[in-house]
Amino acid sequence: MQISKNYDVLIIGSGGAGLSLALKLADHSLRIAVLSKFALTAGSTYYAQGGISAVFDAEDSIESHIEDTLNAGAGLCNPEIVRLTVTHGKSSIDWLRQQGVVFTEEQTQSGETKLHLNREGGHSHRRIVHTADATGKAVSLSLIERAREHENIELFEFHNVVELITRSTLSNTPFPAHKRVVGAYVLDSKHQQVMTFGAPVVALATGGASKVYLYSTNPQSATGDGIALAWRAGCRISNMEFMQFHPTCLYHPEARSFLISEAVRGEGGRLILPDGSPFMQRFDPRGELAPRDIVARAIDHEIKKRGIDCVYLDISHKSEQFIRSHFPTIYQQCLKFNIDITRQPIPVVPAAHYTCGGVLTDSYARTDIANLYVIGEAACTGLHGANRMASNSLLECLVFAERAYEDILNRFPSIEPVPEIPDWDESLVSDSDEEVVVSHNWNELRNFMWDYVGIVRTDKRLARALHRVELLKKEIAEYYGNFRVTSDLLELRNLVIVAELIIRCARQRKESRGLHYTLDYPYTDDAHPAQNTVLTPEARIKEQ
Ligand code: FAD
Ligand code: SIN
Repeated sequence: MQISKNYDVLIIGSGGAGLSLALKLADHSLRIAVLSKFALTAGSTYYAQGGISAVFDAEDSIESHIEDTLNAGAGLCNPEIVRLTVTHGKSSIDWLRQQGVVFTEEQTQSGETKLHLNREGGHSHRRIVHTADATGKAVSLSLIERAREHENIELFEFHNVVELITRSTLSNTPFPAHKRVVGAYVLDSKHQQVMTFGAPVVALATGGASKVYLYSTNPQSATGDGIALAWRAGCRISNMEFMQFHPTCLYHPEARSFLISEAVRGEGGRLILPDGSPFMQRFDPRGELAPRDIVARAIDHEIKKRGIDCVYLDISHKSEQFIRSHFPTIYQQCLKFNIDITRQPIPVVPAAHYTCGGVLTDSYARTDIANLYVIGEAACTGLHGANRMASNSLLECLVFAERAYEDILNRFPSIEPVPEIPDWDESLVSDSDEEVVVSHNWNELRNFMWDYVGIVRTDKRLARALHRVELLKKEIAEYYGNFRVTSDLLELRNLVIVAELIIRCARQRKESRGLHYTLDYPYTDDAHPAQNTVLTPEARIKEQ
């Protein structure tokens, strides 16, 4: 007998976006389920370092934050969405403080206490609100605590969504007139059992897809599940070619995915070559504080040209007391690898960091499927355009959680109830006898994505990658059809779709813009209006 549960709202993801939405809705007597495929802290939110951008400084202005965001986005931001997001900066920080998040403060000369603001690349002012260098941990732990206390929220750890359920899944028609989500099939991975969650409203808050690359700053959870789930269910996906590579990930054989925050450069950290010479001024007059795409490409260029393993980030000219109080987490983590950042430079390399594209949403986080919302890194709202500016992501999570909340609350009274949903059918599958297929394909995928679809692309490399994706897709589909689902298989099945979406978007863009750089079209096409890349499921069905 399979387990079936029903809620008013099903939220998939327990990061900044998912928990913010849950907490806002739960105060209105709605029964909310929040799922996380691993522990509640599994998402990128917990690992965020630099902070959250918002205008607090007297010298700063909303207009300046908007202008910097538009500049970083290289012509593809939606100006209305940028304005909407930026104007909600202060209220979002206030809301987090009400949830118990404590941000770093400083004393002014007149003895007043105010928020300390970091500076990061692309920002023309100090405007990053933070909790030392572990902002995400402070946000995550406070929101989790609030959610645990709330009687209307039920939290499910180690529950991995297999597939969304829509009216069309139930009626077996791919594109009915009214696509409507009604729940999800979910693998309880501790008990290896697929359950049914019915809900008239579903929100995907599943984070990004940077784990599609061999080297990434992201935690294990970032396999783009929400993007793949929404795509399979019939949503449009946009701008997946704009995968952001963070310039400074710690380079050490035993350090996995540890980020060295951009705030280190904001406080004067210099990028240097192994011989100690600086190089960023050769690439951009803004030097170390140029937007990320420029810094990451410059490092990649130097590494490839000189055949070196990494470059170095040096903050050791600052006092030990300054470094240890501003960057306690980075200081401690590097020390574990015998790198004392108060005395020596930090070895760094670029690594995949952020997914600017995703499921196409409107200004209320609505998608092409009725009652399906997408918020946070899984969404493509139009805020980031071709390149996200640092610390705009957590802000986007908070603002679009608020927007989805407003829309859901307005519409909930008139939303149709969930129909009867059949159990997950396992009658035709057995336990796998060859799990090596999953681990092998996972490694292969992440390797060729790094080599062929990384910081610098070409038509030939993209064609090679697409060919490999098509082979893998077939193999994985066959495996999925024959064997019981496991968490690893679900992630791989989603990752291969995400890889395909990135490659297909990249192949459509015949220019270099923002994060997408190709040697075949090295310039931005200024002769035509800038266009988003949009993939439609109808085109996918036609292709098959
Ligand atoms: P996440 O926080 O990634 O949460 C995703 C959730 O979805 C998790 O709970 C996961 O378990 C769940 N999930 C995923 N798939 C499934 C599934 N199939 N079934 C069930 N659950 C699922 N941004 C900033 O603005 N400022 C910063 O300082 C900053 N620093 C960063 C530092 C690092 C190291 C990293 C990796 C990112 C950083 N970012 C920063 C980016 C930012 O942290 C993320 O974009 C943001 O936290 C994403 O939040 P989210 O709620 O969308 O998803
Ligand atoms: C960082 O601290 O460098 C990460 C900031 C971000 O990704 O927005």
